[in-house]
Amino acid sequence: ESFFSEDLPLKGKKVLITAGPTYEAIDPVRFIGNHSSGKMGYEIAAVAAKNGAEVTLVSGPTHLDAPKGKIRMMRVTSTREMYEAVQEHFTESDVFIAAAAVADYKPKSVAAEKIKKKEASLSIELTKTEDILASMGAQKKHQKLIGFALETNNEEENAKKKLEKKNLDFIVLNSLRDEGAGFKGDTNKVSIIYPDRKIDFGLKSKKEVARDIVQEIIELLNA
Ligand code: CTP
Ligand code: CA
Repeated sequence: ESFFSEDLPLKGKKVLITAGPTYEAIDPVRFIGNHSSGKMGYEIAAVAAKNGAEVTLVSGPTHLDAPKGKIRMMRVTSTREMYEAVQEHFTESDVFIAAAAVADYKPKSVAAEKIKKKEASLSIELTKTEDILASMGAQKKHQKLIGFALETNNEEENAKKKLEKKNLDFIVLNSLRDEGAGFKGDTNKVSIIYPDRKIDFGLKSKKEVARDIVQEIIELLNA
């Protein structure tokens, strides 16, 4: 941490971040989840804190320790819990970064007892979860909103649609095309898409990607 802390670019700024997966219960012992490690969101939290921000990190289940620095950690499991934690802190925030890999669907009802193995097939009816980022987009005032997108086809077009639909300031498009980029690893290759321009970055460590993203946020706040 810098001795001249008053010079840090995010001093006095409140930054809210979601990270990791969400888990949706099927029964008392099973859930629907995904392989998100949480690394990208945790790295952004660490870099933002290093730059002087007051960081609140709302994290789904991960194997990661809380990032170093002045960070308020809130651990949640389900999308509903993540939504409520975000809603609690959104109004006072200056920046919201949605780095979580949120479950899109959850079981319509959670079985009270462990589901027994019976027939050759089993169907579980699913219903949509809350879209946390879209909901914050609909209520945003001074807040800057940043989303992530992971696409396998029509990448840019789909990312641009999300940027507009969720009322974001920019969206970080994860490229799946290159080896080493994506969900579980330590590296990422991203493009940052603004309503009117795009920046392509090379394959980098998630820490370096986090630095690039935080740099863009600093510029947004100063613009
Ligand atoms: N997101 C969210 N709440 C959800 C789903 C997504 O906050 N219920 C956020 C993610 O954290 C990400 C952005 O929205 O920043 C885009 O997520 P993504 O899964 O790519 O888009 P979806 O809108 O869920 O659409 P789809 O999965 O069909 O591509
Ligand atoms: Ca999704």
